[in-house]
Amino acid sequence: MGSIGIFDSGYGGLTILEGIRHRLPQYDYIYLGDNARAPYGTRSFDVVYEFTLQAVKKLFSLSCPLVILGCNTASAKALRSIQQNYLPDHAPDRRVLGVIRPTAEIVGQLSHTKHIGVLATEGTIKSQSYNLEIEKLHPGTTVVGQACPMWVPLVENNEFDKPGADYFVKDSLDKLMAQDPLIDTIILGCTHYPLLLNKINLYLPPHVKVIPQGRYIATSLADYLQRHPEMEQRLTQGGTCQYFTSESSTKFRQSATLFLQEEITAQRITLGD
Ligand code: DGL
Repeated sequence: MGSIGIFDSGYGGLTILEGIRHRLPQYDYIYLGDNARAPYGTRSFDVVYEFTLQAVKKLFSLSCPLVILGCNTASAKALRSIQQNYLPDHAPDRRVLGVIRPTAEIVGQLSHTKHIGVLATEGTIKSQSYNLEIEKLHPGTTVVGQACPMWVPLVENNEFDKPGADYFVKDSLDKLMAQDPLIDTIILGCTHYPLLLNKINLYLPPHVKVIPQGRYIATSLADYLQRHPEMEQRLTQGGTCQYFTSESSTKFRQSATLFLQEEITAQRITLGD
């Protein structure tokens, strides 16, 4: 028996945690942010895999039977290898799920033009994970990606609602829409980006829908637990959430408040073997 583990490179996964807890408040959760080594967005496949696996192992050691990679970069670069190469031999009774497939599943139903834009970190865009998943699930859909290298630093440095953010938000949106003016649906394929939503909506044509992920990941998880009662029965239901970070717990607590709009406490842990 144990909690649902939610992992992110830093704070961004808190937007996923919030969506999940809103939908499934009865379970216990453990959030782990690898803040000491964030951002992951520009790191290589091997390094993202190594760091993500360390975090998954830590969440397993904290008794989580189920771990959600609430980070697009980790989902794009590490999920498949963990599922195929690590779990079968080392933790066959545990499960690790990501955020890309659930988002790709829903987005095909939301676009009328079948032209979809993806805003994400450089790593997620380069991996082509969204293109591959969406084109597989919704054949005939055109997917265009745009990396937004300045958006995570704007959020991490608490500049997301300041006037300076407008330039970088508009610049990336203009670049995306210039690639394909038929886009009518945009995925925020990075867990930090929902904090920029007010600015994003300022610079997009009104008919373009923007999809933050939290709500859809929550729906997908609820569906997963219904289809997998053997996993659901292993989850404790105390409605609690514990927070762990690889950086200073004080810094985590202060920044997490921006994402969650509530006071929390965090514990520092070390990742790695
Ligand atoms: N949380 C990561 C994601 O969703 C972005 C932050 C990072 O680059 O580490 O892709």
